[in-house]
Amino acid sequence: MSTRVAIVTGAAQGIGRATVHRLVQEGVRIVASDVNEPNLQECRASCADPTLVRLITQDITNATAPADAVRMALDAFGGIDWLVNNAGIGNAKPVHETDDMEWDRYLDVNLRSAFRFARAVLPHLQAGRGAMVHVSSIFGILGNPRSAPYAASKAALLGLTRQMAADYGPRGIRVNAVAPGVIETALSEVRLRTDAYYRKLVADPTPFPRLGKAQDIANAIWFLCSDQASFVSGHTLVVDGGWSVTNYVPPMTE
Ligand SMILES: NC(=O)c1ccc[n+]([C@@H]2O[C@H](COP(=O)([O-])OP(=O)(O)OC[C@H]3O[C@@H](n4cnc5c(N)ncnc54)[C@H](O)[C@@H]3O)[C@@H](O)[C@H]2O)c1
Repeated sequence: MSTRVAIVTGAAQGIGRATVHRLVQEGVRIVASDVNEPNLQECRASCADPTLVRLITQDITNATAPADAVRMALDAFGGIDWLVNNAGIGNAKPVHETDDMEWDRYLDVNLRSAFRFARAVLPHLQAGRGAMVHVSSIFGILGNPRSAPYAASKAALLGLTRQMAADYGPRGIRVNAVAPGVIETALSEVRLRTDAYYRKLVADPTPFPRLGKAQDIANAIWFLCSDQASFVSGHTLVVDGGWSVTNYVPPMTE
């Protein structure tokens, strides 16, 4: 496979950083976007070949953010093949505790930005090479307590994925989603440590002897972008250690 160029949002840490590292292992050239400049620098410094990575510090909700990332990819690498819409915010609340400002923020970061990055990248993708992955969540598939705006944004990403697969499949462009289960990153770490109810909801019923790692999602994203998935489109790849398809309850202890 000839060398590809990817834009990865939310690249500074967690799943985004692991994705940058995984794609760099494959020789992919990357525009790594995030609002957190120091962590972005760390992401590049700790990857296998920092020369393959260009950094763009931006809030993805800013009006010019998608065009700025696209311009960097074109200037630095002469094209774009893949978009990984990964940046997101979590730890939402139920409807009756969510005000309009919070609702808008979840939709803006998790959904609207993904749509706007996708729209900016589309004109540059080539048939048979172009691919996108939206990072959704198991909360976008199953109803879980206390996460209304987050779950709504992540479910909408799955609709966007299927719709785009229909619209751009005829142009040879594939669009897929990953739906991570509970993955040990900064986003889940505080909640896992401090919120016993959250642990009971997502960690304890995972029927695998460990929680997910950012690398597990990065591997799925690599697969969906790569030619190994050349006939996979409109698909949601759930990576959750079996959480969403089992009714696992940990054994009782005496
Ligand atoms: N960790 C989990 O358990 C889990 C589960 C399901 C889905 N996800 C999804 O995976 C994605 C990555 O999550 P993570 O666990 O790595 O989280 P994380 O908080 O460790 O990383 C998210 C990154 O996105 C960046 N970001 C957030 N808002 C931004 C903005 N407005 N502009 C630019 N950058 C911004 C942050 O700076 C951060 O570097 C998210 O979309 C999240 O919803 C995570």
